[in-house]
Parts: sequence; structure tokens; C-alpha cells
Amino acid sequence: MLVLHALSLDPDLPEGLLSARLSAEEKQQILNLFARRIRERIPAAYLTGHAWFAGLRFRVDRRVLVPRSPIAELIEAGFAPWVDPQSVERVLDVGTGSGCIAIACAVHLPQVEVDAVDVSTDALEVARLNAEEHGVDDRVHIFASDGLAAVRGAYDVIVSNPPYVDVHDMDALPEEYRHEPAVGLAGGEHGLDVVAELLAHGREHLRDDGVLIVEVGASRPALVERYPGLPFVWLEFERGGDNVFLLRAGDL
Ligand SMILES: C[S@@+](CC[C@H](N)C(=O)[O-])C[C@H]1O[C@@H](n2cnc3c(N)ncnc32)[C@H](O)[C@@H]1O
Repeated sequence: MLVLHALSLDPDLPEGLLSARLSAEEKQQILNLFARRIRERIPAAYLTGHAWFAGLRFRVDRRVLVPRSPIAELIEAGFAPWVDPQSVERVLDVGTGSGCIAIACAVHLPQVEVDAVDVSTDALEVARLNAEEHGVDDRVHIFASDGLAAVRGAYDVIVSNPPYVDVHDMDALPEEYRHEPAVGLAGGEHGLDVVAELLAHGREHLRDDGVLIVEVGASRPALVERYPGLPFVWLEFERGGDNVFLLRAGDL
């Protein structure tokens, strides 16, 4: 991605270009990017200014986390088999960051209205830019909310990739993560602050046949220990990734 970016090429470049010779200036531009990636440990997406998610290109900068959730795969499938993709009308994305999850939902499910919330006004600005760029700003409603506080009404799907890194892991994160906004990573002492809010109040905002889908990363053991009675369904992904649970409205 860094090489392509330095040469202003898209990932689907024609094969004939693979044997092209580079000018000294082009080589230097590539090396400069590699040097910054290696020495300053800046994530590639911040160097190129964009990242790919659910087959879509998103603008990213240091105001938002780099999109990487395995939930992308689920969105591309329209949340099947967990819900009937045709019947989904309203989706809520809590902690939208760059807007990647909310916008991908609007693109892959062209009939849905999506509410996208975040506590960071910086992130909301990036999400708005991305919604406009993908032409879905009429169906993706982006607004500030601390957890579910400003959310109204009920949804078919509540989806969230919240901050879930616990205090101990925050201290041990590799350098790359320190370029990302801490509000996107730090989930409180046990990494469960936002997740606990979703479990406590999610039911109030779900339709009777709705589902809650949340990524919890390494906080999964702490979550299972704290909520032994909840029948978490742990989703599997063909392209890799784990620690994403699904709960039905009735389970909450
Ligand atoms: C792990 S990032 C995920 C961003 C994006 N959804 C993604 O998957 O790339 C978590 C996001 O949650 C937001 N956030 C943190 N605390 C929040 C809270 N209490 N209420 C709403 N959003 C919150 C952060 O600002 C950040 O954008």
C-alpha cells in the first residue's frame, strides 16, 4: 500500500505496470514512506491517508482509529444468517470513528437508515467526510453521543466496535497504537466500560427480533466472567478475526 501510494496507483493496477521501472525520485519517495513507517512506527493508513474496509476506501487520519474490525465480513453479508438482510430497516453504530461500519452498512444494505454515534467530535468530522464521499450522507445520520445517551428509538441491528483495551494492556500496546486516539482504545479498568453500557441499555433500543453485535477483543474473558448468565454467540469469520459476540434482543 505504501508503494502504491507513493506512485499514486490504485491496488487494482494493470498487471503490465508490475514490471515498470521507477525513476530515482519515485524510488526515493517510496523509501521515505518506508523510513517513516519503520522509524516513527506510524501505521501505514496514516501515511497514505486511507484504509480499506468492507471493500470500500475510507479517509483516515489521527483523529480516528484505523479501520480493521472483522465485522466488515458480516456487513458484506448483510448480517445474514443472523437477520434477514431484506428486513433490516434501522442500524445503530456505537463508536463510529471513521464511520467505516455505519457507511459500509448503508452501502451494502441500500434500504437501511443508519445512526452513527461517537463521543469524539473529531471522529464525527471524519465520519461525515466519509459519508459524503460514499454518497450515503442522506441515510447515515452522524451525531454525538456518550454511549446510548443521545440515541432515540429502536433498531434491527446495534453494532459496535467500542474501545475495549483494559488498563494493563493499554500500557503494553506497541508503538503503532500510540499514534491512534486513546479514546478509541481505552475501555476502562477491565476494558468493558462501553460494552457494559450496551448490555445494560441495548434492549431498550432493539426491536423484538433485533440483534446486538459487539467486538470485545482481549476483554472477552473478563466479559464472560462478569456476565455468566448471558448466552453470548461468538461469531466466526472466514477472513480471520474473533472475539465478536452476538446477542438477541430476547437474551438481554
Ligand atoms: C475501536 S474505535 C472503533 C472505530 C470504528 N467503529 C472502527 O471500527 O474502526 C472506538 C470508537 O468509540 C468511540 N468512543 C469511545 N468511548 C465512547 C463512548 N462512551 N460513547 C461513544 N463512542 C465512544 C471512540 O471515539 C472511537 O471512535
